[in-house]
Amino acid sequence: MVSLTADMSPLHPDRNLALELVRATEAAAIRAVPFIGRGAKEAADEAAVDAMRAFFTTVNFDGRIVIGEGEKDEAPMLYNGERVGNGTGPRADVAVDPIDGTTLTAEGRNNALSVIAVSEHGTMLDASTVFYMDKLVTGPAGVGVVDIRLPIGENIRRLAAALGKPVDELVVSVLNRPRHAQLIQDIRDAGAGTRLMSDGDVAGGINAARHNARTDMCVGIGGSPEGIVTACAIKALGGHMQGRLWARDDEEKQKGRDAGLKLDDHVYEADELVTGSNTIFVATGVTNGELVKGVRREGGYVYTESVVLRGTSGTLRRISSEHLVSKWL
Ligand code: FBP
Repeated sequence: MVSLTADMSPLHPDRNLALELVRATEAAAIRAVPFIGRGAKEAADEAAVDAMRAFFTTVNFDGRIVIGEGEKDEAPMLYNGERVGNGTGPRADVAVDPIDGTTLTAEGRNNALSVIAVSEHGTMLDASTVFYMDKLVTGPAGVGVVDIRLPIGENIRRLAAALGKPVDELVVSVLNRPRHAQLIQDIRDAGAGTRLMSDGDVAGGINAARHNARTDMCVGIGGSPEGIVTACAIKALGGHMQGRLWARDDEEKQKGRDAGLKLDDHVYEADELVTGSNTIFVATGVTNGELVKGVRREGGYVYTESVVLRGTSGTLRRISSEHLVSKWL
């Protein structure tokens, strides 16, 4: 049963915070627009970071960035450890990805999102010392059914049975990278179809976890920050997610261990990536995608589309906004 009072405490991230944060992803997406298709991914990211940070200062919460743009010396804004919000209201861990899909944006391609994820203070895994994570995401049908330790073919057969559809109707999304050549082959050998993503495995994971979506599972190695962000959304969708940190070399492995992370094939379940269920995930489309439409300008208006997911209530809300262009000049 949905508790109507569980998040009423001013100490916890609440539904108002979820809605307030959309303003920050909307702003980041709108400010990225002049850079869509202009080949300048750093400039696009910078514009989105600036806008997101400016809006954060108006939000009633006391946030600490756990997953940000990098360490303070290399990221002047929204760096790991930075305090965001106006300092009043609930304390919270924050993960930001002002643009997931900077290359998609620079190349004018689909599926770039501006994203913020929030969870209660002290509940988000700081995986920033290890760049990559091997992930497995499905919708609710995969809970207790698939497991990242199993061969992909076995997971495909299990999920197909749980979904009640033939294996050849299953579609698995994977980042199109040379490191996934064998994985892609194995998926096809098992009889399932592939959806190869050029970038953006946050949207890929969420799409796989939503009912009535065109993909059923999202697998493979992508960014670990994106893994934490995705976990916040998957918890709200009741889906399945597991992640294994994937260090590129011994030095990165050691850095991860020194930071207290579990490597050596340890499987992080969604509940270990983000402990607790009071998660918030908000995303606004920068460019068009299956999850949300991208920013569109028509005459004197800019249109944005966003989603807000809350772990406490298990809801996905869509927010369509019309913004007067004159206010953004
Ligand atoms: P950026 O927007 O930071 O470029 O990230 C895009 C992305 O595709 C993520 O969605 C994904 O997790 C990661 O990059 C994969 O990394 P790589 O491109 O190194 O394989």
